[in-house]
Amino acid sequence: MTVVLGIESSCDETGVGIVRLGSDGGLELLADEVASSVEQHARFGGVVPEVASRAHLEAMIPTMKRALAGAGIELSDVDAVAVTCGPGLAGALLVGVSAAKAYAAALNVPLYGVNHLAGHVAADTLQHGALPSPCLALLVSGGHTQLLRVDDLAGKITEIGSTIDDAAGEAYDKVARVLGLPYPGGPPIDQAAARGDRCAIAFPRGLTGPRDARYDFSFSGLKTAVARWVEARERDGEEVPLDDVAASFQEAVADVLTAKAIRAADDLGIGTMVISGGVAANSRLSALAAERCAAAGLELRVPRPRLCTDNGAMIAALGAHLVAAGTTSSAFDLSADPALPVGTVSV
Ligand code: KG4
Ligand code: ZN
Repeated sequence: MTVVLGIESSCDETGVGIVRLGSDGGLELLADEVASSVEQHARFGGVVPEVASRAHLEAMIPTMKRALAGAGIELSDVDAVAVTCGPGLAGALLVGVSAAKAYAAALNVPLYGVNHLAGHVAADTLQHGALPSPCLALLVSGGHTQLLRVDDLAGKITEIGSTIDDAAGEAYDKVARVLGLPYPGGPPIDQAAARGDRCAIAFPRGLTGPRDARYDFSFSGLKTAVARWVEARERDGEEVPLDDVAASFQEAVADVLTAKAIRAADDLGIGTMVISGGVAANSRLSALAAERCAAAGLELRVPRPRLCTDNGAMIAALGAHLVAAGTTSSAFDLSADPALPVGTVSV
């Protein structure tokens, strides 16, 4: 049995997760502690990189202590350390990478610098077990919106499509601002949408014309359409039906994401779809995906919301898959790579 520690610091959550890899290759989640600096960014409407780095520095050791105590283990029980080395905010990543190096060196255990995006996909294996090969991953977060073909979590991940402008989560955050809802915008829009009519307003579905890229996404036009619609009502002195706007916006996002993901799975002959990343916590996205996957005969896997948003457990899980696959560990001169491509699962 191997105990893997995972450290995540790519954005505004300091995550420390601990996973036990069994001799049968199964994963057991021992701890998943997250300290978020989201409240410090809320008044700016988005993450402020310097504030995030400082918060990681302050939260790292307390979060580590909580994770070890929760798992009921000592640092000396750790057999390997995995850390997000990209993509993400440079200064924020550096805090996690430096901490991981220090722990791995002090404990004399291997260090794995891993890809945050592959980590989001790996999160699902903590809840639903090993992924079938191949599977299609729809990764939807604040910074990324991608369709990935996953042949092997420990090595072969290929991008099929991605957003050409805003990420899905970014669109949620920007629309929330237009509607006067707090940051991050996903949860309050999700709640408002539950009270609204998703057919009330026909917002545009980006890149869905017959000549548009089959697997790429665009959410910038949708965001602008929502802003224009709201502005027009305000200009005329009319009340903005916030719940209906939220529900109609959310429907446009969920419709395009699920339609394109199912089209890709169909074209590639893939039978399983995994949705992960912060926006996977969205209630309408998972409901519509379930409906459409069932109709298309696809297996759908969506991890619980806590595993969808940024956390250290997903990084520990990916580290454990690398250990199980016998992947060479990282050198100690490992550096953070803010633009690490999704195809590079470990460095
Ligand atoms: O994966 P994540 O925690 O961090 C990044 O790697 O970006 O994703 C954060 C994003 C934010 O944009 C947030 O608004 C969105 O996930 N989000 C949601 C929901 N919960 C979080 N979007 C829609 N519905 C939700 N329930
Ligand atoms: Zn993320």
